[in-house]
Amino acid sequence: MTTLPSGRPADPSAPLPRFPANFLWGVSTSATQIEGAVREDGRGPSSWDAFAAEPGRIKDGSDASVAADHYHRYPEDVALLKDLGVGGYRFSVSWSRVLPEGAGPVNKAGLDFYDRLVDALCEAGVRPVPTLFHWDTPLALEERGGWLERDIAYRFAEYVDVVAERLGDRVGRWITLNEPAELTMLGHALGDHAPGRRLLFDAVPVAHHQLLAHGLAVDVLRSRGSGSIGIANSHGPTWAASDSEADRGAADFYDLLLNQLFADPLLLGRYPEGIAEMLPGPVEEDLRLISQPLDWYGVNYYQPTRVGAPDPAVSAHFAGIRIPPEMPFSLHPVEGYPHTAFDWPVVPSGLTELLVAFRDRYGDSLPPVVITENGCSYEGIDDQDRIAYLDGHLRALHDAMEAGVDVRGYFVWSLMDNWEWAQGYAQRFGLVHVDFADGSLTRTPKASYGWLRDALRAQK
Ligand code: BGC
Repeated sequence: MTTLPSGRPADPSAPLPRFPANFLWGVSTSATQIEGAVREDGRGPSSWDAFAAEPGRIKDGSDASVAADHYHRYPEDVALLKDLGVGGYRFSVSWSRVLPEGAGPVNKAGLDFYDRLVDALCEAGVRPVPTLFHWDTPLALEERGGWLERDIAYRFAEYVDVVAERLGDRVGRWITLNEPAELTMLGHALGDHAPGRRLLFDAVPVAHHQLLAHGLAVDVLRSRGSGSIGIANSHGPTWAASDSEADRGAADFYDLLLNQLFADPLLLGRYPEGIAEMLPGPVEEDLRLISQPLDWYGVNYYQPTRVGAPDPAVSAHFAGIRIPPEMPFSLHPVEGYPHTAFDWPVVPSGLTELLVAFRDRYGDSLPPVVITENGCSYEGIDDQDRIAYLDGHLRALHDAMEAGVDVRGYFVWSLMDNWEWAQGYAQRFGLVHVDFADGSLTRTPKASYGWLRDALRAQK
């Protein structure tokens, strides 16, 4: 039996603690990573289609044109959700499937797909929880400057209105954006994700324009009668590499980027200190929109980060991406913990630490929390490591709730193996195995799927 570093032995055969009766259990996916059918039924190209076509961008040279072919196989995938016994399914809507040019004419066939999916979910008794943007910017907008331009926030609001008009009668919960921090950092500051820009701190306007898009979308959704709106932000504890002043300063700065740059404007209506001069102009008016009350706050948690002062000799990475020497920090390996196949440290207690720290930092300004992503990459169908991972994180989540953090739901990343962005098909995050190797795309539930199904039954 492995001992997880929280000091608690991982014994996934022991029952989980009881979660509240109305706790929302779910799994997550995103459009680019599973749908495929990128040239079908009038879908327009996205930033990720273009990025994957550039040589050397994707580790295994693959693209997402077929992915898990969910576009055609969604009935089978909905049946898997039903058997799993989850109450909610978080998926994303592809903007360029609905508006092939990002703005202008609506592609009815694209919207029809989400309509069918939502109907199938409702029929299966699984609540649809759509994310309106999970990184796949319509290429036509990207070519006009994308998220560096303020205009895109208004185009996003128009798109949200189209989707809400069509699905709003059956969708009760919406997520505006997924991880704006990653689109800013990985996509625009470091260039390892689409659209591949390396702007370093000149990428900060991308953060603001996404937040503005979020605020405008909240207005649209409210005007369409939606009573439950959240956002999915990635967060994690930031640990200083040593006690030295330089390391602690670098860790504080990293914490600001990962944990405050998006949460402060949303929850407190202001940017953290030190950011003002990088913003694209006066933002007071925008902040009023951005900080409208949310019904819940989504947290994607994967791992803590150990951060030190800049040091070219240190070469840890963030999500597989090396940090360039121009950045005012370096990332250090998190040692003494098990690691996933993606080499991410497995630290369940980091989830408790993060949530308690968030509650302490934001107090009454923090709405109820939903864990919108948590999961791990491992090979194989008999994935005992994933079971230990989920078991440990659910216990850690329960610890946070016992410590008084109001948590209302938990979504596993991910329902099935998928196209893991710049990693291609090399990392498997699914509860369900997908056969990419033989091209059959056969779905095979892994041991972790059975474990979660049993754990959810035991909660009833
Ligand atoms: C993203 C997912 C991704 C997962 C694992 C999150 O940052 O929202 O799309 O697959 O992490 O890397």
